[in-house]
Amino acid sequence: MAVHPAAVPPCPTDLPGWRDWHKRMTDTFFASNLRDEILLEIGAQLRRCNLQLEAVPAAKKCMRNFSSFFEAVTREKLTTGHLLGASIPDEKYFSEMPYPEMLELPEALKDQQFLRWLDTNDDESLASALRYIDQINETVLEPPFEWVAFIYESQHLPTPDGTGALGRFFIYVPRQDFDQHIQFGLQHDPARELPKGVSVVAVQKTEAGTGEALRRPRARMKDFWRKRDGERIEISTRLKETGLAENCYACHKQATLPITPDPLKFDQERFGAALNTINKRMASYGAIDLDGFTRAAYGPPMGPRTSPLRTPEFLADCSAGLVKPERLARLGEAMQCATCHDGDRRGELNYPSGIRMQPKGGTLMSWYVVNHQKMPLGVTDLSLFERKALVMCLNAEYYRGQGDQPGLLESWMRQEACW
Ligand code: HEC
Ligand code: HEC
Repeated sequence: MAVHPAAVPPCPTDLPGWRDWHKRMTDTFFASNLRDEILLEIGAQLRRCNLQLEAVPAAKKCMRNFSSFFEAVTREKLTTGHLLGASIPDEKYFSEMPYPEMLELPEALKDQQFLRWLDTNDDESLASALRYIDQINETVLEPPFEWVAFIYESQHLPTPDGTGALGRFFIYVPRQDFDQHIQFGLQHDPARELPKGVSVVAVQKTEAGTGEALRRPRARMKDFWRKRDGERIEISTRLKETGLAENCYACHKQATLPITPDPLKFDQERFGAALNTINKRMASYGAIDLDGFTRAAYGPPMGPRTSPLRTPEFLADCSAGLVKPERLARLGEAMQCATCHDGDRRGELNYPSGIRMQPKGGTLMSWYVVNHQKMPLGVTDLSLFERKALVMCLNAEYYRGQGDQPGLLESWMRQEACW
């Protein structure tokens, strides 16, 4: 077999060299359709070339977006001790924070009887577990601090423990300084192992020390792990027990993702009101900063209000015959997702939104736009075909571009005006 020439050229040492390298790498990455191997090769070479790049400040400046992107999105694979993809090392992420209790389960949820009810997972034991939360609420003096619990089945993904658990026992635990959104996986099939997964999104609302409200809330996320030792159920962590962790931000572009239960399994009468309360609460934070993540490094928001690409020809092309010519202008309008997902009102949808597949198929974007028909928020006049086209066009505009015109992610990375 012929030796494959190195895909990634050596480190340049001067401005023209860097300009050429930057251009060639961007070409290669997009020509490969953003393949993971190419992504990692570029990320690795960029790390090796760091000193040479530092030595050419003008190049460094014009490669700022490119470098920050490759540094951020390859961190989890290329830097030891950063499996979460955060700039903070995993160990430190879980051990040092303004409110250390943020990433711990409340003591009441480590209660053995409560945990056993979740394991038993029949109607009666789940009712007992819910009653247990009601009892906790009897000791809460102010309604805003009441816990909210409900049960649902996820349509999108099983717990990350290989047990295929889709059922969730969800508990919202509001506190003065931070809120916790906690979910325990419930066994899917009695023939399979008991699920271990328990996860939390903790939203910090106040500054530690002063107690003053943060201008923008911050979040941290963690996967716990239930360890069953005879009768006892211990709460450990996924990282400790398996050595694994993953980049939550790949999907949690908004740290608190709205919950859309499997409608066929959801007890609307019993839990519908609680679900609504939680989704409203989650949406009310506005955009949330994630500790250790620079959101802007993952690219600009998808679906901006205006875009040089969004011409009638582009819309006709990207919608691939799914949309009638007289509806193309409407399609273009519906692409303005970033009026809300702008990084300020709500986390921006940037890389890898639209291409990152969910374990159960589809992308979060296709689920919300096509399956749930929830997005764009408040829009009711799009047909199913138009919704499918909408997802295709958003991806084309962001990742693929049109003719020689690069997509939004690519132009951002190229920084042509700077060069
Ligand atoms: C493959 C995409 C994906 C990844 C990766 C992911 N999640 Fe989620 N997560 C979701 C979706 C989708 C929901 C919304 C619930 C639903 O409808 O299934 C969710 C919901 C949650 C919830 C319930 C609170 C909320 O925001 O709705 C918690 C807690 C949670 N995830 C924790 C985590 C943690 C911790 C990580 C990283 C270790 C993580 N998730 C990684 C897709 C993901
Ligand atoms: C008018 C404001 C608005 C517009 C426009 C809008 N969204 Fe949303 N989006 C929201 C809100 C609010 C939520 C949370 C919904 C909930 O709580 O049920 C959300 C949630 C989502 C989610 C769940 C994951 C996440 O990051 O929050 C996706 C995916 C999504 N929107 C995609 C889109 C896409 C794609 C478009 C454009 C086609 C779009 N949205 C347009 C307001 C908007």
